[in-house]
Amino acid sequence: MLKIISKFYLYNYFGEKMQLTKEETEMLEGKKGNAVKKSMEILLALGEIYGAKKLVEVSSVQVAGVSYDNLGDAGLEYLSELAKDGKVKVLTTLNPAGMDLENYKVLGIPEDFAIKQKMVINSFTKMGVIPTCTCTPYLIGNKPNIGENIAWSESSAVTYANSVLGAKTNREGGPSALASALTGKTPLYGMHLDKNRIAKIKIIVNCEIKGTENFGALGKVIGEKVGAKPTYIIGIKKASLEELKSFSASIATYGGAAIFHMKGITPNKTIIPKKEIVIAQEDINKSINELTMNNCEVDFVSIGCPHASIKELEKVAELLKGKKVKKEFWITTARPTKKLADKKGYSKIIEEAGAKFAADTCCVVAPIKGRFKCLATDSAKGCYYAYSKNNSKTKIMPIEKLVEEACK
Ligand code: F3S
Repeated sequence: MLKIISKFYLYNYFGEKMQLTKEETEMLEGKKGNAVKKSMEILLALGEIYGAKKLVEVSSVQVAGVSYDNLGDAGLEYLSELAKDGKVKVLTTLNPAGMDLENYKVLGIPEDFAIKQKMVINSFTKMGVIPTCTCTPYLIGNKPNIGENIAWSESSAVTYANSVLGAKTNREGGPSALASALTGKTPLYGMHLDKNRIAKIKIIVNCEIKGTENFGALGKVIGEKVGAKPTYIIGIKKASLEELKSFSASIATYGGAAIFHMKGITPNKTIIPKKEIVIAQEDINKSINELTMNNCEVDFVSIGCPHASIKELEKVAELLKGKKVKKEFWITTARPTKKLADKKGYSKIIEEAGAKFAADTCCVVAPIKGRFKCLATDSAKGCYYAYSKNNSKTKIMPIEKLVEEACK
């Protein structure tokens, strides 16, 4: 662990001095309360491991580790302890919880789980966190500007923030993100340093990529080929917000990349790497085939991984107009996006067709393991977790086909 060597210095892993301001030292000494002290200890331990020389201010935080399914009683106890005197210093939102906070009964979530999940949310709320539970904070007002240091946890949002928004964030764990929220600081290392954001491999995409499912498939191909290395991708003519969020989720899931650069589309400057990899249509087809399993009778359809945008909800409403779904069909989205869909009349059409909104949550963090055997989705990330976490087979397809599948 860290030791205070002198009033304003700590030593990081590399034996270099980690400089603290007077205010940060007081935080560490407990003069700003227990939650802040604990948070500083977490941040400085991280800084020590990763060789940070100092802390920097953050302007936005997104905290993962919200589902009671993942937190358990130990996590709940930890949050209650911090909530005794902790208050967030910057705009802070949450990742999806284990259930729709308003509509959980319709989705079959047990009452004992709901009670614990509400206690988790209450602790966050007490600390001043905005209890909007979404993996797309950038769609609901937590949207940093280019160059801003932030501390986000959800991997798809981290990759989107670094790559598409040009903000700077490491992939934080739930506790370190919350520590940043309570102190307004994060250690300066990793994605906060420009040298670590430079592309290492050039990816030449030699085929047309269109639709969230194909952008997800591309993310899988690249992730599996290059791992977490930053890439410079050429050959993509255009990409919508929805396609970029799908791609960000997939490249982070299958390779762990926290940043990519896409020529003509993303805003960061980078050096163009010499090493090249070419991606062809066969690679995309192979990826789609791997996510579309045989002997799989679809019993669950889901859209909204990452959480659906208002444009996606509009599209689903158009496709569902006058139809009836015959399978369990969840649309996962942020509560504010759902509210907008209510106003626009999309929710009415969707719900009259028999599909269900699962706001505040998602199919991965909800306690649904074993309930469904075969998921149909447009999300490559959704396929990965349905298979690995929920033991469900998968089929990936475009939104139009998903609606057809749900109505079959
Ligand atoms: Fe979001 Fe859940 Fe997918 S957190 S990215 S909807 S796995």
